Amino acid sequence: MTITQLKNKFLENLGDKYPKEENLSFFNLLAEHFLQLNRLQIALEPNKKLNDTEVSEFEGALEKLRVFEPIQYIIGETEFFSLSFKVTPGVLIPRPETEELVQWILDEVSLKQQQDLHILDIGTGSGCIPISLKKHLPKAQISAIDISEEALKVANLNTEKNKVSVHLVHQDILSTQKLSRQFDVIVSNPPYVRELEKAEMQQNVLQYEPETALYVKDENPLLFYNKITKLAQEGLSKNGLLFFEINQYLGEETKTMVEEHDFRAELRKDMFGNFRMLKAQKR
Ligand SMILES: C[S@@+](CC[C@H](N)C(=O)[O-])C[C@H]1O[C@@H](n2cnc3c(N)ncnc32)[C@H](O)[C@@H]1O
Repeated sequence: MTITQLKNKFLENLGDKYPKEENLSFFNLLAEHFLQLNRLQIALEPNKKLNDTEVSEFEGALEKLRVFEPIQYIIGETEFFSLSFKVTPGVLIPRPETEELVQWILDEVSLKQQQDLHILDIGTGSGCIPISLKKHLPKAQISAIDISEEALKVANLNTEKNKVSVHLVHQDILSTQKLSRQFDVIVSNPPYVRELEKAEMQQNVLQYEPETALYVKDENPLLFYNKITKLAQEGLSKNGLLFFEINQYLGEETKTMVEEHDFRAELRKDMFGNFRMLKAQKR
């Protein structure tokens, strides 16, 4: 089978399960992954012959896409902050709005200060936040916590893949009484999706992404923010900064809660115009 024949068959079989452009982008990602061919190379060699193994790899991926398994889990990796990260179904797939949070932190933290900078990421998942920060602040000391051992395994692989060192700690933040030291920056993208918001979520998230990474009870949606803000009262150094990715529907509530703990807080919108980030500093 030639690559053009495979492409036509693939697009036809996916049909209208996804928007057309997405089908095409899936094919290109799979071609990069299985054949190490980019779009230009495919266009230049439309009659390139594929062997049976290559064809069956595409067929396997097609079946998974048809039942809405995320492409990132199928190929086992994704891009975040222009770096490559391994992902398994045990970790959340890093999102573009989290890249904006990382950029905000980098904009606030001067390169000059980095020598003595201690940063903590709470609920690190794939390690996308601390690893991206460490790449840009190589002299900073960065630690990251997660309750999930699987997440820490993946985060560890990602430190190796990206050749940085991050101190990874297995810890339940909800039962933590005090942080191990004071930090200059504490950042967290904790679970924040309420059960009532499940109705508006897509099947690929609902069925495949880890529940412990995503959901909180409707009655207590700020559980993690509350706990982390309390820990930050003692756990942040003088002039230290607290950064959160937040639930877009709970921006004002989150800000008010943080301010009640004696912080000055500022909300910021993401590229889609939703309040998705918060920065706070002790008064
Ligand atoms: C929304 S995900 C964020 C993952 C990653 N930081 C990112 O932005 O892609 C939340 C993470 O918090 C972790 N988590 C959930 N409950 C926790 C707890 N009690 N203590 C520490 N981490 C927890 C989950 O395992 C998950 O990796």
